[in-house]
Amino acid sequence: MHRVVITEGDEPVSEILIAGGLLSDAAGYLPQREDRRQVAILTQPSVRSLADSVAESILDGGVAASVIPLPDGEAAKTLSVIEDVALALNRLGLTRADTVFGIGGGATTDTAGFVAATYLRGVECVLAPTTLLGAVDAAVGGKTGVNVGGKNLVGAFRHPSRVLVDIDVLESLPMDLRRQGTAEALKTGFVGDPDLVELYREHGIDAPLDEVVGRAIGVKARVVSEDFREGGLRAVLNYGHTAGHAVEVAAGISHGEAVAIGMVAAGAVGERTVGFDRRVEQEELIASLGLPTRSPNVHAGEIERLMALDKKRDTGGIRFVVLEDFGIPRVVHPDAATVRASLHAIGID
Ligand SMILES: NC(=O)c1ccc[n+]([C@@H]2O[C@H](COP(=O)([O-])OP(=O)(O)OC[C@H]3O[C@@H](n4cnc5c(N)ncnc54)[C@H](O)[C@@H]3O)[C@@H](O)[C@H]2O)c1
Ligand SMILES: [Zn+2]
Repeated sequence: MHRVVITEGDEPVSEILIAGGLLSDAAGYLPQREDRRQVAILTQPSVRSLADSVAESILDGGVAASVIPLPDGEAAKTLSVIEDVALALNRLGLTRADTVFGIGGGATTDTAGFVAATYLRGVECVLAPTTLLGAVDAAVGGKTGVNVGGKNLVGAFRHPSRVLVDIDVLESLPMDLRRQGTAEALKTGFVGDPDLVELYREHGIDAPLDEVVGRAIGVKARVVSEDFREGGLRAVLNYGHTAGHAVEVAAGISHGEAVAIGMVAAGAVGERTVGFDRRVEQEELIASLGLPTRSPNVHAGEIERLMALDKKRDTGGIRFVVLEDFGIPRVVHPDAATVRASLHAIGID
């Protein structure tokens, strides 16, 4: 079993366990807590039966458990769903000694995390991500939230006390979900773990998930432990997201595919600004995993407008995370010609 700990100062605040079969004995893997009387499980339709079996395991362990179903995907991330869930928790009589347990993809874990951060001003949160993207990104790091007008506009920083990543569940994901998560996992390799990049080079998309997830979460945990509230370092996790997010919005493609394309653009920016000399190698690796390296047909002006709107921009203009080398990220503010060249690199003229 892999175990990763996130710290604040010297204090451990969140523990992530990664292994096959964890959810078959979910009761045994909840943090020890004498006064816990009940667990409220929030879940999404695709993993409802898994959530039901976890509830049974918790009941067998002598603690009450109820399942609160959420709508699928982004439809869960609304304030009206938060209100419904809060009303349900109130009916159940959930107290500060009890636990909210989110089981599902990133939409479920973002929603469960926000409920746990705000209900009674904060109750214990445990998360079990069931998508690869959820495991390597959404469920780890303590950012929670829902969409109000803009994406994730209302939220809170609060760590889950424990994250249970059941590798058996991730093994059974359909290929498109696996690919989406692979883009984010590879991203963490590029910014923080060259061995993870090697693992993908050696095994392709079938790289062993326990090691992929352990390494990817290891990178995120290290970054978040140093910079929980996005003072600076945490920005490196946005590698591929400046152009990627703009392409996602303009072309309406999935987040993972957009990040893959965005990393190709960032490679070109890195080449021109900090002498990154592995642009071609990076692009070949991304392509070899079945991820796109070129944007669908969109207008350069539209992409530039979206990049300038990006909330992650700062006063120096459009901000890109780039690599000096695999594992050595830098933040730069490229000039207009460099931005154009990076769009050219992803097929936008
Ligand atoms: N909090 C953070 O730091 C953070 C980071 C990255 C992404 N996110 C959020 O995560 C969300 C995206 O995550 P996601 O792609 O996991 O979204 P998701 O929860 O919408 O899941 C994607 C789809 O996969 C299905 N699914 C889930 N588990 C499955 C399984 N085991 N087998 C088959 N299907 C399954 C879901 O029902 C859904 O239809 C976005 O809302 C994004 O904002 C948050
Ligand atoms: Zn992302």
